[in-house]
Amino acid sequence: MIIKNIGQLVGIVPEGVLRKEGEEQGKTEVLENAWLSIKDGRIAAFGPMATCPKMAGQAGHDAIPSHNVIPSDEGIAGQDVIPGDDRESLDATGGMLMPGFCDSHTHIVYAGNRSGEFLDKINGLSYEEIAARGGGILNSSDLLNKTSEDELYRQSLSRVQEMMDKGTVAMEIKSGYGLCPEGEMKMLRVIRRIKETVPAAVRSTFLGAHAVGRGYTHEEYVQTIIDMLPQAASLADFVDVFCDEGFFTVEDTERILRAAKGLLTPKIHANELAVSGGVQVGVKYGALSVDHLERTTDAEIEALRGSATMPTMLPGSSFFLGLPYGRAKDYIKAGLGVALASDYNPGSSPSGDMRFVMAQGCIKMRLTPVEAFNAVTLNSAYAMGLSHEYGSVTVGKKAALILTQPGWDLTKLAYEYQTPFIRKVIF
Ligand code: NIG
Ligand code: FE
Repeated sequence: MIIKNIGQLVGIVPEGVLRKEGEEQGKTEVLENAWLSIKDGRIAAFGPMATCPKMAGQAGHDAIPSHNVIPSDEGIAGQDVIPGDDRESLDATGGMLMPGFCDSHTHIVYAGNRSGEFLDKINGLSYEEIAARGGGILNSSDLLNKTSEDELYRQSLSRVQEMMDKGTVAMEIKSGYGLCPEGEMKMLRVIRRIKETVPAAVRSTFLGAHAVGRGYTHEEYVQTIIDMLPQAASLADFVDVFCDEGFFTVEDTERILRAAKGLLTPKIHANELAVSGGVQVGVKYGALSVDHLERTTDAEIEALRGSATMPTMLPGSSFFLGLPYGRAKDYIKAGLGVALASDYNPGSSPSGDMRFVMAQGCIKMRLTPVEAFNAVTLNSAYAMGLSHEYGSVTVGKKAALILTQPGWDLTKLAYEYQTPFIRKVIF
């Protein structure tokens, strides 16, 4: 397939660049008036319209090799199309073509909702107060354990569909509402089933340590999680711990991560409710990401320097819970990269709209549109170990792209943050 008359082809990244850090986060290569070809589900080549391969039966230029055109194995770039070739052509009519959104932090497998707590929240109760009254994560856990696996799959799949319609092409999904071995394994099986059904890429995280399950003491529950790790590792890609005040301590986290070594790579919930030490313990155990970071001091920024860990911020939960927004700008100034993700879940961020996440990155965290764009594409793909396949326009990567209506660019995307912009999501 060839997409031509692309107004702006954005997010072009050379092969081998797996994340954008520091000043690089503020840069992206844009090609105006471009074409792009797709072969076997991957980006095969692209270039300016002046070099667009001629399609059978259509007016076009003879292909002129350009520096942007990297020939694929099949040699699509730089060749005329032979009559009878079955490649389709799609006229972008000046629309922007960009990598699809990558959402490295979600909890979209859940049952029912927590709209009752929404009223408590409106009436002034904090996230911690709702949790202390037996609501919050435990409320979702009760509902999940009462819901059949098929029904859970059905409810979760509708959220995945909604996310894909909004341009998300790769997502991470966590367990963490089972809070007992059966419930957690049920969630991980549902995530696997989603992975097998949808065109988006799905990564799975075992978040048994999300809250202490009902009927366990704190110590019994931490031991239960540790005992579950080998079984969870048969289905999950990552392990997560809610390392925060009132949930799990740095010592608990350290015990779990030590036991998970060689089984599952960590991704850690840290510094949402307090300066928790979660960032430091995550970095120590080689976490792929540390997430939330609403409350951080310079010590967290220092701990992350030179590490392979991606700081990930979740503006949707700052918005919904009225928490401070993460200091993304300071992280970037310190030479780090930042990813943004939705945190889609029933308690702190009931939305998986990554375009809104990008807009909040600009409006609330003062990221430039390009910094926010890199945060919701390449860096978020990195934060789930997928940036070799997703998150940029790079020859050989998956053709997981958003084609917009005519006239869009990255600034307008964040600025007119509610105007519908998607023409087609390409998987
Ligand atoms: O990332 N903070 C912990 N976990 C989720 C919220 C889960 C819930 O409230 O159901 C989060 O915000
Ligand atoms: Fe979360």
